[in-house]
Amino acid sequence: MTFARAQLDEILHRLFIDAPATSLRDEDRRKSDEMAGLLAEVAAAVARRACKGEFVLVDAAAGKAYVGLLAAELILAPRGRPARVHVIEREPGRVAACRDAIARLRAPSLAIEVVAADVADPAAWPSEPDLVVALHACGQASDVIIDQSLAVRARTLLLVPCCTSKDVSAAALAQRRADQLGMPRHAEVRRRFIQSVVDAERTLRLEAAGWQSTVVSFVAPTVTPHNLLWRAERVGEPGRMAEAAEQLARLRG
Ligand SMILES: C[S@@+](CC[C@H](N)C(=O)[O-])C[C@H]1O[C@@H](n2cnc3c(N)ncnc32)[C@H](O)[C@@H]1O
Repeated sequence: MTFARAQLDEILHRLFIDAPATSLRDEDRRKSDEMAGLLAEVAAAVARRACKGEFVLVDAAAGKAYVGLLAAELILAPRGRPARVHVIEREPGRVAACRDAIARLRAPSLAIEVVAADVADPAAWPSEPDLVVALHACGQASDVIIDQSLAVRARTLLLVPCCTSKDVSAAALAQRRADQLGMPRHAEVRRRFIQSVVDAERTLRLEAAGWQSTVVSFVAPTVTPHNLLWRAERVGEPGRMAEAAEQLARLRG
């Protein structure tokens, strides 16, 4: 499924700007490009899931919920089957912008729940959602979303991490491993190594927990430097889990 740029621009303008004689800014247009790539992934994940009951999509660390709301209007509502979007965001201004935008959404049959909470709060999450999507989940939020998706037994996770701060747990591991390997202290050399260890740790943690994962570029790096997407499906294949657990133990030293 592909999404036309003009259609995405129109929806973003209607939902989040909604002022006559205005147009999208350059950063909003880049958001359209991101949305085209990510919504194609969401549409494929929805199509893969043969779900008899209500389809539940979680937009985690949602910001104004561009992903959840566009998926509601363009993917879930046109399916004509029961579906619900569950938005989790902790910043009150973005929660309010999301609630405003819902009034302008063209997806009347869909339930949309907006939870103003930290993704670390287990009470913020529905149980066994079909799909968790997190776009640009910054710092530690990506790890919390992985852990919570495992805890609530989500079926599929589409995760696009953002910046890697010092509070990311695998960043400390990466620094330790860099020292053990005798990596130079030059910041640009270390930064790439640390990102690679953080990415590897997240991948192996998902795999060891039974999630078959693929890592792909969902959009060009000129649109966003944070353009890697983890596509993970819960399969629970014991051989694959054991192999990943062994690799994870080796990575952790
Ligand atoms: C870079 S923005 C991305 C927003 C949105 N997903 C998007 O791509 O437009 C990250 C968002 O995650 C939210 N966030 C970060 N950590 C969070 C946490 N622990 N719990 C809930 N929201 C969080 C921030 O408030 C912010 O709105």
